[in-house]
Order: sequence, then C-alpha cells, then structure tokens
Amino acid sequence: MVTAALPYANGPIHIGHLSGVYLSADIFVRFLRMLGKDVVFVCGSDEHGAAITIKAKKEGLEPQQIIDKYHAQFEDTFKKIGISFDIFHRTSSALHHETAQDFFLKLYKNGEFVERETEQYFDEEAQQFLADRYITGTCPKCGFENAYGDQCEKCGSTLNPTDLINPRSTLSGATPVLKATSHWYLPLDKYQSWLDEWITTGKLNGVELHDPADWKAHVIGQCKSWLDGGLEPRAMTRDLDWGVDVPMEIPGAAGKKLYVWLDAPIGYISATKQWAKDNNKDWEKYWKNEESALIHFLGKDNIVFHCLIFPGILHAHGEYILPLNVPANQFMNLEGNKISTSRNWAVWVHEYLKEMPGREDELRYYLTKNMPEQKDSEFTWKGFQEVVNTELVNNLANFFNRVVVLTNKYYKGVVPDFDLEEGFYSGSDADEYTYMDSEIVALYDMVSDLHNHIMNFDFRAGLKTIMEISSLGNQLLQFNEPWKYDKVEPERVAAVMNFAIQITAVLAIAVRPFLPFTSKKMHEVLGMDFTKENGVLLDMMNSLAEGEPIIPQGHQINEPIHLFSRITDDLIEFQMAKLENSKVLETVETEETAHKPLKPEISYEEFQKMDIRTGTIISAEKMEKADKLLMLSVDLGFEVRTIVSGIAMHFKPEEIIGKQVTVLANLAPRKLRGVESKGMILMAEDATGKLMFINPDEDFPTGMTIQ
Ligand code: 2FM
Ligand code: ZN
Repeated sequence: MVTAALPYANGPIHIGHLSGVYLSADIFVRFLRMLGKDVVFVCGSDEHGAAITIKAKKEGLEPQQIIDKYHAQFEDTFKKIGISFDIFHRTSSALHHETAQDFFLKLYKNGEFVERETEQYFDEEAQQFLADRYITGTCPKCGFENAYGDQCEKCGSTLNPTDLINPRSTLSGATPVLKATSHWYLPLDKYQSWLDEWITTGKLNGVELHDPADWKAHVIGQCKSWLDGGLEPRAMTRDLDWGVDVPMEIPGAAGKKLYVWLDAPIGYISATKQWAKDNNKDWEKYWKNEESALIHFLGKDNIVFHCLIFPGILHAHGEYILPLNVPANQFMNLEGNKISTSRNWAVWVHEYLKEMPGREDELRYYLTKNMPEQKDSEFTWKGFQEVVNTELVNNLANFFNRVVVLTNKYYKGVVPDFDLEEGFYSGSDADEYTYMDSEIVALYDMVSDLHNHIMNFDFRAGLKTIMEISSLGNQLLQFNEPWKYDKVEPERVAAVMNFAIQITAVLAIAVRPFLPFTSKKMHEVLGMDFTKENGVLLDMMNSLAEGEPIIPQGHQINEPIHLFSRITDDLIEFQMAKLENSKVLETVETEETAHKPLKPEISYEEFQKMDIRTGTIISAEKMEKADKLLMLSVDLGFEVRTIVSGIAMHFKPEEIIGKQVTVLANLAPRKLRGVESKGMILMAEDATGKLMFINPDEDFPTGMTIQ
C-alpha cells in the first residue's frame, strides 16, 4: 500500500513536489510492479483547509471553483509526466466525506477524544471563528507587523494566534475577540509512550513491526525531537465552513468541521476504497492485514503528521496497520533559492511540459539524480543541460544507438548467434579477456545492486547503477571495436554484439521505473513487449541468474530511433530568463500588497480631519546626502509649499516638474534633513515597491479639495 502526499488543490505542481514526493513514490511502485508485487498506489487532491479558502478569497472565487481547477490540472500534469497512480482521488468526494466521518465517529465511540473548551479568536463582523492564517498582527518576537496567527514569516517563529500583538482579522480588518468554543482533541500525550517505543525500537507491545535502521535518519531525528518536546493533545476539529462536517450524531457537531490533517490522510483510505470499487478488489487487505506493508511518501514538512499523528489515529481506531516506512525527502532548491509559490520562484511542471515537449524523462532523470533524499538539493538549469547532454545523450542514447545501428548493419537486425567458447574484451577492464557466462553474472550483480538500492529508497544510487550498466556497454564496444574487426574476427564480433544487445535489453527494462517513456521506445526498437509490466524485472533477474540471455539469438530488432537529443543553450537561456522575469511579474499579481491587511478601523470624524488637495509640482531638486529625498515646491492654489518627498529613487527631478499631484495639506510640518516639509504627496505603491503619483483622471484645477 503506497501513498503519496495529497497536494493542496490551491496551486500547480512544481519540480520540488516531483522530486520530493511523486517521483520517488512512482519509481518505487513501478519497481514493485516489475517485481510482481501486489501494490496499490494512491494519491489525490487535498481540497480542504485554510490553504484552499484563502486562495479562493484571493481570487474572488468559490473554493469549489479553485479545487476543480487544480484537481483537473493535477490529473493532467501527473499523467503527462508519467506518475503511475492507480487512482488520483479527491477529498471533496462523497466517499471521502463518508469515510472520514465514519473514522471520526469510531474514534469518538471508542472514547478516544477529549472534549475541551478553549477561547479562540472570532470575527464579529464576518461572524466566524478565524483559522490561524486569517489572523495577522505584530510578531511578539521580532515586531514584524504582518505575522500570521501560526507563524511569523519574517523571523520564522511558530506562534499561537493569541501571541500576536494588535491582532486583526484578514477577513474584515476587525479586531477579533476571544470567544469560547469546544473541540475534540486527540490525546497525543497519552500516546506518547507507545509512539516513542514504536518509532525508536520499531516494536509495539513487544512485537517487531519494522527495523528503525531502515528508516532515514532525518525522519527519525524529526520524530524524536517532537517526542522529546513532549506531545500535546491536538484539536481534531475546527470552526470552519469549508471541510468535512463533524458527524451529526455527535452532540455539539453543528458548524464544526474535521481538522484538515485528520481528513487528508484518511484520504489515502478513501482513495483505496474507490479504487477497489472500480476494480472489484478488496481494499481492506491493503490497510488492515498484517501481511500488507504501508509506505508513505512525502516531503519533510509532512513528517510529523505521518509518523506521529496519523499513526496515532490509525492505532486509536484499532483495525489498521501502521506504516512500515516513511521515506520522506528533504527539499529541492532552485538556482540557489528556496522554491516559493508566492514569489513564483519555481519550475511549474505543466509549463515545462508545454515548453519542453517530449522531454519528460529528461526532467525525471535530473530530478532523480538530484533527489533530496538525505539533505536539501539544488536544481539549476545549467546543471540540467549538462546532465542531460553528458549522461543521457552521450552515455545512454549513444550506447543504445550504436548497438542498434551495428546490429542492423552487420546482421540485418537479427541477434547474432555465437560460439560459447568465443571470448572478448570485458566492458569493465580493457585487458581482461572474458566469456559470455561471466559477463552475464556481472550484469546480474549490477541489477541486484539496483534492486537493493531501490528497496532502501536510495533512488539516486539506483539511477547511478543504471548508468554504470550503460557505461559498461559503451566500454565493451570501445575495447572490442566491432567496426574494425567485423570482417577480420567475425566470431568475436558476434559474441560482443550479442552481449551488447543483452545489455540494451537489461537497460530497456531497468530504466522503466525511472524513464518510462524512454523504456517504451527502447522496447519498441528492440522488439520487446512493453505491455507486460508485472514481474518483468523478476523474470529478467531469474534469467540472468541462470546465465540465460534476455533476447534470444535470431530475434529481429527494429530500426534505430533517437532516444534523447541535446539541450541547446537557447533553451536554457529561455528558461533562466523566464524564471527571473516571472519572479517580478508574478509578485505584482499575487503578493500580499493588493490584500495587505486592513489597518484598524477609523471613524468618519477621523477621516474628515484630513485635508487633501490637488497640487502642482513647480520645482524639484535633489537633496544633499539624501539619496531618497527630493525637495519639491508644490503649488496648492492659495500658496506654494515646500514638501520633502521620498521619491528620489523613482523619479528624476526634471521629469516631474509640472506634474499634478495629490497632497495631504494639513499634516503637521516635519523637519527632514534640516528642511521643513509641510504636507505629504500621496503615492500608490505596488508589490515591488514601484511608486506612482495619484492624479485626478482628467485635467483639473490646482488647489481643489478631495474628499
Ligand atoms: O502539505 C501538503 O501539501 C498537504 N496537503 C499534504 C497532505 S498529505 C496527506 F495527509 F494527505
Ligand atoms: Zn517575527
């Protein structure tokens, strides 16, 4: 039972998601299928929680419209990049709501929850309790004015909404009030000791469930640090209007929704149920049978939910198995910076697919080669180009192409027969003379290394092994030079070419989990059956172990096709320029400026106190030792004022003379760099800090009032 974290349906999939979660899961699952294992691979859209409602509000849409858009986009993107889910489900489905509610009810009936009343922020204007993300205020740690209720993005502190100084609701701008509300809590404090035992020893009640040595050190490390800090009860419900309803049978359920981190992982179960329904299978044997193995793939920010909270929930339910492993990845950075959706610093997979058509496997390859398995890793476009050109084009495609071309040339595409006694130079050592049987053993050993790496979730090492097999093939050709000896030593050349063809066949099968599109092409060229996936790797390993060839002599192969083509500089330059440019453009659209939290309310009387007038700039000059300031003379009709304005970085003095402006005329005079400034020019500012004058939109006399 393999799960991949359900992505929030509030934004597209980027390369960080792929390399962190979906590619590793996909490689693993494809590998298991090729070993003939009975495996189900589920995922789906995570469609609840504040992430969705905030996005909807920002775009002026309903949550349903947002999730429909991204759910459809996810399905399409994952399919096109070759992530082979058995089902891609969604948490807004009726089956999911039902499944999550049943689960909650069962825990409730088991008496697992503790009901508690606490005070939480409530927006009296919007008439609703506020999710942490809907409250902003001043960070008590660093003074940043727009910290969120759960976190300050400036200093990174984790916060509670009640920690904020001067809290405001982002819904209405009102100051929220504390109001009593009651919720159901999962008593993680009570689970602490068995969770601790299970994580650190792999045992539960003395029964060994997994070997902690098989888990990644950073995963165990993160769990331990939570455990060492002491687990606390965690609310499993929220006062929200978007999400799964708390089951009606429970007194006090009205208006309450399940906590998104309760509902989302149950999404794995509802997805499995839907898959079972569609395919006439029994979902329970994957989730409730000790013979089954549950593996969760996810990024490091999801570790605590899958290693402590969800296991707590599964165990409290009583019928479910616990995960055998949670091989979480760390993060991938992009060109030296953290990938960020809000700053648009990302490579979006749906855009890549359009801009680099037919290069799905190139991306899969580079992301796997740089998978953040143990530590954060780095994506660079130059690195991408270099790796594709040297490893895929020069190594893999080159070897494959040479073998196919030579086989067609010398044998009309028919795999040659050879004498078993005939030797040739080995691919691993130019001086070593070797025979087919020992070379097949060497190949078997390499495939078995690959197998071990994948089973240890070491996909980078697995990929490396594949490239070593390809290098072995290239060297085999290099050391034996069939193009020189095909007439002189046809027997040796036949043996070499036969073995080279066996290597291409091994590669065609072995690359399948990593490069499924390329594997298909290789199968076609070699005349192998790609439709069969189940057990093919196992069969191949068995053949090699027996010393049997993968492709028999006399088999007809087809004409060569190019597997990969070079990535040119202009493609890379285009991508790099796009990244830089879209960073700025997108900020304007999406960053908080347009939606800066409202300042505290003022009365009509307070507003009335401001005297705002139209004015005209009649002179402007730079000020000494003040890069940012311009000294302006502004005609207000009844008098000319000196106003010092912080716009020198944005406008040259000569370009603003004669400009009509808007002036706050009754602002108390202030001294700036020794000059008394009387009034303020009003400016509009965008997210990048760009300034614009505010003018009446048609010609208008100077000195008129604005109200
Ligand atoms: O972090 C996220 O994107 C979450 N939507 C992951 C959920 S994983 C699981 F629990 F569904
Ligand atoms: Zn802070």
